[in-house]
Amino acid sequence: PHHDLVDRDQDTLDGASASPREPLFTAVLREVAAERERAASSTLDGALRNFGYLAREATTEQVHLALEHDINPFTNQPHTAQYKKILEARKSLPVFTHMAEFYKIFNKHQIIIMVGETGSGKTTQIPQFVAYSDLPHTKNKIVACTQTRRVATTAVAERVADEMDVQLGQQVGYSIRFEDMTEAGTTFLKYMTDGILLREAMHDPDLSRYSTIIVDDAHERTLATDILMGILKTLARRRPDLKLIIMSATLDALKFQKYFAVSADALPPLFKVPGRTHPVEVFYTQAPVSDYVKAVIRFVLQIHCTEKPGDILVFLTGEEEIEDVCHRIKVDVDNLIKSYPETVGPLECIPLYSWLPPQQQQRIFDPPPKAGSPHGPPGRKVVVSTNIAESSLTIDGIVYVVDPGFSKQKVYNPSTRVESLLVSPISKESAQQRTGRAGRTRPGKCYRLYTQKNFVSEFKEQTEPEILRSNLVSTVLMLVKAGIKDLVKFDYLDEPAPESLLRALEVLNYLGAVDDDGNLTALGSMMAEFPLDPQLSKMLIVSPEFKCSNEILTITAMLSVPNVWLRPSNKREEADAAKAMLTVPGGDHLILLNVYNEYIQNQHDKDWTRIYYLSAPALLQAVNVREQLERTMMQFEVDLVTVQDQSDMSSAIKQALCCGFFMQVAHKVGGKRNYMNLNNQPVVLHPSCRLDTQPEWVIFNEFLVTNRPYIRTVTGVRPEWLLENARSHFDLKDWPESEMKRALVRVSNRMAGRFGARWDNAARVGEIDEE
Ligand code: CDP
Ligand code: MG
Repeated sequence: PHHDLVDRDQDTLDGASASPREPLFTAVLREVAAERERAASSTLDGALRNFGYLAREATTEQVHLALEHDINPFTNQPHTAQYKKILEARKSLPVFTHMAEFYKIFNKHQIIIMVGETGSGKTTQIPQFVAYSDLPHTKNKIVACTQTRRVATTAVAERVADEMDVQLGQQVGYSIRFEDMTEAGTTFLKYMTDGILLREAMHDPDLSRYSTIIVDDAHERTLATDILMGILKTLARRRPDLKLIIMSATLDALKFQKYFAVSADALPPLFKVPGRTHPVEVFYTQAPVSDYVKAVIRFVLQIHCTEKPGDILVFLTGEEEIEDVCHRIKVDVDNLIKSYPETVGPLECIPLYSWLPPQQQQRIFDPPPKAGSPHGPPGRKVVVSTNIAESSLTIDGIVYVVDPGFSKQKVYNPSTRVESLLVSPISKESAQQRTGRAGRTRPGKCYRLYTQKNFVSEFKEQTEPEILRSNLVSTVLMLVKAGIKDLVKFDYLDEPAPESLLRALEVLNYLGAVDDDGNLTALGSMMAEFPLDPQLSKMLIVSPEFKCSNEILTITAMLSVPNVWLRPSNKREEADAAKAMLTVPGGDHLILLNVYNEYIQNQHDKDWTRIYYLSAPALLQAVNVREQLERTMMQFEVDLVTVQDQSDMSSAIKQALCCGFFMQVAHKVGGKRNYMNLNNQPVVLHPSCRLDTQPEWVIFNEFLVTNRPYIRTVTGVRPEWLLENARSHFDLKDWPESEMKRALVRVSNRMAGRFGARWDNAARVGEIDEE
């Protein structure tokens, strides 16, 4: 007979077998012996129950006993050899060696701030410590650990499933947008992106499924993490049984402590684990580097040819750049090996960015390639990564870091409402983090591809929190849906500019998601249910009106996955020619629809995707995303209809597009491919854009700035559709004078002439026009 575990807050102790308060070792030894006897016929649902455990009063000794036990307490299966091997490795992690201190603090406090260097074991160990203490599986609860990036979420969950000797998706799982790897009732340790937990809070403001929530990498200050902390701070008062751990890799702990303090003299405790890093020698360039991509390749080759064994980590800004550099390094190394087989060993180049397919992600943890021959020069691995490798993922074996000093960062200008990703200089704090990656296992070297002078005088101390440089439309919709009405009074760690909040509400109002008083409308409530940008969810929900919701659903799915077009640097012409064969008139959105349909018609054929230079994983993901969105549509009774008459299709789709993207409009000016956006800013069609004719009016999916401002994924529309479908936005009387306004007024007048008094807006505009 086994007694159930007893909570401190439920004071019914059942002492039928080992009393929970019995001296530990007696209980454990007896139980271990008894358990051996029970062996195969055991119905034990966990050795933990026999260790005299009290949930949330677990001691280090008890946990160690459970960890060393032959039987996995969570599965009742004997531990594998791999488990034991990993356990030995875990024991040397700084966080693991501080387990006793952790439990001392965790058992006593509701909220803990934790600081530990990247690689010290925060993400992998702390959630397990908590699971051993909370015993969430015995109470139908879950321990959640948020991550700021998709790749880190899946990679870490996989690792921890191995560490706990369970199958990923069972006891340990993960949840990222469009992919849920958990099993209800079984998963009790869940890694998830901060955005997913925020979404859950929208539906269940008490987050009642969770016993402990761990906010990881809080120092990254993503928008979702910041908002989540605000919600959790209030929630902790409502739910005294909920525990919170805020984890960070940098030393700004005091800011978090103050934020979560109940009163000024009652700061939550700080659990700090000292790092154990080796010295890293930092090198700067003598003069500024003009082409950092070239410089990166040169440095990698130089390290490979002249430095002692040890892997290399390179930081770049995005997928395309990374794939390009990997390719170029490979070509160069192959040539070098041909010329100097005696001195140059194999070099394996591994890309790492957020939408990398999972099978490829795991490659970053593979050992470096072996020497080509028994006495040949040793092999080396080079990981070429975005910021992901800065603090969210630790790759062992890195000794050399190459840091060009850039990352892609979100920037938002509330007055123009333009958000874009810009390649920008990193902060000193980021540079420090990057350098630290080289000293994980032994002394290392970091090559900074900028001058010391530049670093000291130009680099900011810290990266600005995302909330201060983001478009808040999506977040505000979620907050309003969660019932948080007073957005200005919300307790932010760093307050966004009131203008950004106002802008967000204004956009939601144009989209019809909130009324003039800021109250959520029925449309807005439904929009919030879709895990999509509000512009996309609006377009999707209204698409049945235009009898094209199946088509819009496909386009939405295609816009929600990574770029499907591959363009390898040595095959650009072939790739462009292949794309031309899939091109249909009208615009890029229609081309995406066509590609998807062809992909389905060719039954997901890999050869077909290869011939057309399309990314098979991205297309497969689109199929999956489409299915999920379709389920949400059915749940909320959004009709699924297909355009019957092919000749109507293009205009139906374009009208639906206008309903969501009326703020992302550009008007043709002057020469080829030149447009002007709503802020009277010149923009150019991106080279990838396949618009055959150059229509006077276009809507675009993305605004991006590289060497100049581009619009990408563009489709031509009729201006009447814009005015008709977004009348409050196109209330032109308040618009400042501009070429764009004059053009819209002309359209508006034309419509007024045609429809008469129906166009009250337009009539007013007409008056102004005559002034
Ligand atoms: O979160 P933090 O940066 O403090 O460290 P972590 O992600 O918990 O990683 C601790 C250690 O676990 C790393 O140094 C790796 O040795 C190991 N690890 C791994 O081998 N494979 C993974 N996918 C993740 C972590
Ligand atoms: Mg971590």
